[in-house]
Parts: sequence; C-alpha cells; structure tokens
Amino acid sequence: MGKKVTVVGAGFYGSTTAQRLAEYDIFDTVVLTDILEGKPAGLALDMNQSRPIEGFETKVVGATTGPNGEGYEAIEGSDVVVVTAGLPRKPGMSRMDLLEVNAKIVRQVAENIAKYAPNAVVIVVSNPVDEMTALAQLATQFPKNRVFGQAGVLDTARFTNSIAETLAVPVKSVKALTLGSHGDTMVPVPSRCTVDGKPLSDLLPADKIEELVVRTRNGGAEVVALLKTGSAYYAPSAAAARMAKAVVEDSGEVLPVCAWVDGEYGISGVYLGVEAQIGAEGIKKVVEDKLTDSEVAGLKEAAEAVRAKQADVATL
Ligand code: LAC
Repeated sequence: MGKKVTVVGAGFYGSTTAQRLAEYDIFDTVVLTDILEGKPAGLALDMNQSRPIEGFETKVVGATTGPNGEGYEAIEGSDVVVVTAGLPRKPGMSRMDLLEVNAKIVRQVAENIAKYAPNAVVIVVSNPVDEMTALAQLATQFPKNRVFGQAGVLDTARFTNSIAETLAVPVKSVKALTLGSHGDTMVPVPSRCTVDGKPLSDLLPADKIEELVVRTRNGGAEVVALLKTGSAYYAPSAAAARMAKAVVEDSGEVLPVCAWVDGEYGISGVYLGVEAQIGAEGIKKVVEDKLTDSEVAGLKEAAEAVRAKQADVATL
C-alpha cells in the first residue's frame, strides 16, 4: 500500500518539512495540517503545482483542523506523523520558555493523532522537544518506541557544518555526533568526530574544539538572533524529513534522536538524545557506543535536567 505521512503545523518548519517529504517522491500522500483556515490547503496547492517542475508524483493535501478534532480525518492511515505544532522562540527566549504554551497545543494534537492515526509512528519537533516528546507519548499512550523526537540529527548537522567550515573540507568528510538534550545540556561528542577518518583532536586544538561545541549548543539561538522573527527551519526540516524517511523505508539507520532510554549508559526512564536504530516501528533499539567519561557525565546531567521537566509536563 502507498505510504502516507502527515505534518502537523504549517508554519515554516512544517511547510518546509512537507515539501522535502513530497520531493523525496516515496509517499502517496503528504498531509499538511494547521489551525489556520486555508493556509494548509493553499500551501498544498502551491507544492502540488511544483510537481511538474521538480518531477515528483506525491500528492500534498492540506487540511484545516479545529479545537474539537474537526478536520483530523485527513490524517487517517498515516504511517508517520511529524508534529511541528506550537510557537517558535523569539530572540532572547530559551526553548524552555515555550513549555507551557506548547504543552497545551501538543497535548491536543497528540490526542487527535491517537484517535485518527492510532498506528502511526510519531516524530515530535515542537519545543522544548525533549519535554514535548515525553508529553506526546503520554497523551497518545503509544508504545514508547513509536514516539520519538528530532534534535540530534539537526544538532549534529550544525556541528558538522561548523567543523567543515573551520577546516575548509567538504561536509561529507566530517563525521560528528551530538547527544543529550536539545538545550543547555546538549552533549556534542568530540571523541566521536572524525575528518576523513582522522580524529578531530588531531586536527584542532582543544580550545578550538570547545568553541565549536559551544557554537553547536547555541546553534538554534544563533539563527533566532539573526532572523528576529522566529527560529530555524531549513536544517530542522531536513532533519525531520530524513527521520520520517528512515521510518517508512524501514532503513535500520542509526541516527541521534530523542528516544526513550531504558538502562543505556546507566540511564533509565527518560526521553533523551541518544543514537538509535530507526525502522518501521519507530525506534528499533537504542545503540550504546563508547564515550569518554566526561561525555557520559554530560549525558547523565542532561538526563537529570530533562527528567525533572518531563515530570512537569504530565500536569500541563
Ligand atoms: C532549532 C529549533 C528548531 O534548534 O529547536 O533551530
């Protein structure tokens, strides 16, 4: 049967994700939803009109949804649902400043996903993503492997781009990794970074690597400060679309994602940025690999920070 993916939220993040998914040309249908009347239908029409030029057959369908689930029948049968709904941050805000406002939105969206697309894999990108992923799992009551969040693919791409620019090498020469939260306790992992197979520490002094780590951790805020009107969406949508692709293709790729951790690295009972193998059922398994002691300590610190906040979302 043809594959179907839904993107909830037709802001810049959602609409660019929908466009990328359509251009992959691996789905029958990409559904784009929003609460704004006409906006998803208008964007869908616009994307469909690009089909003859870009040469893809996937149909994009726009659906306006209401507060009581109106319009959600459009998502029925989705294999994957990407949740981008919620507000982006403005300059000076942290992702955590969005917790209360986005919790209300994500809870309502998740309840409708559970009702209309009960077999879907859910990929959450709304911020603060570690907490919104935990909330989406609670509100859908889906198995934890079927709900995960996007952060590590994006943060790793930012780290990779900075390393490539600093060393003036192609991005494809660089292998990098970030784990932990999508926030202050992000854990870029220099010990797992190589350039054409050489360890990053052979190519850059420690203080320069630390500068790149800090820049990665502030990667989202750097874009927000420049844009002034919202947050990044080109790299974020590339990350979310790639994850949805890995699910529908049952690819078995190992990607850094916000996944439920159950004993790996000595951490349990929390959604956290770790490497995981992705497939049709969402997370096939969390992959534990070698990290330095200080990187493991960073991951544990991130786990405790997000654990406290993830407990709060149950009541939001
Ligand atoms: C960022 C937002 C989308 O990191 O979390 O750009």
